Amino acid sequence: MSGSGTNLQALLDAVADEGYGARIVAVGADRDGIEGLARAERAGVPVFVERVADHPDRAAWDRALAARIAEHEPDLVVCAGFMKILGAPTLTAFPVLNTHPALLPAFPGAHGVRDALAYGVRVTGCTVMLADAGVDTGPIIAQEAVRVYDGDDEHTLHERIKTVERGLLVDTVGRMAREGWTVTGRTVRLGRPAA
Ligand code: GRF
Repeated sequence: MSGSGTNLQALLDAVADEGYGARIVAVGADRDGIEGLARAERAGVPVFVERVADHPDRAAWDRALAARIAEHEPDLVVCAGFMKILGAPTLTAFPVLNTHPALLPAFPGAHGVRDALAYGVRVTGCTVMLADAGVDTGPIIAQEAVRVYDGDDEHTLHERIKTVERGLLVDTVGRMAREGWTVTGRTVRLGRPAA
């Protein structure tokens, strides 16, 4: 993650219940000094930071990030508000889940809330999807709608979306951990394949 880490906190809270079915083996960030790292540290989860500026180029950062993730042998990587596009080294090595504060394919990119407001939609929402090499283009797993109110600004709308987004992310990660998933083309099905 890259920021305040409220989505991470929701996952940290969820994994405290053994029945949830998942553990968080590590938390990584692309920058220092963010609240999300402090949240992980308070929960006793190993953290690491891999900054683009510490590498000669983006490709080197991509390789270093994948290597750092691999040290922890995760079954699933979750981008919980990670504000960088992941490169091939991570995407080819792990399934990667991403969350976005808009109803994709509408309003992809770093300003999904601002762009939805500017367009004037009355309903937006959040999307949990598998990450691929594009910007918010991966196969969609779950979505939930959120109403836009008169008088909303980017902050109030984003906070309302994030309340829903946290629940959707926790629910999706838990189901993936407990039930598994299959990907056929652009369709992701949660649950064990029929025998
Ligand atoms: C989330 O809305 C995420 O989808 C977006 O940034 C926000 C991260 O919030 N990319 P937080 O750091 O989990 O509080």
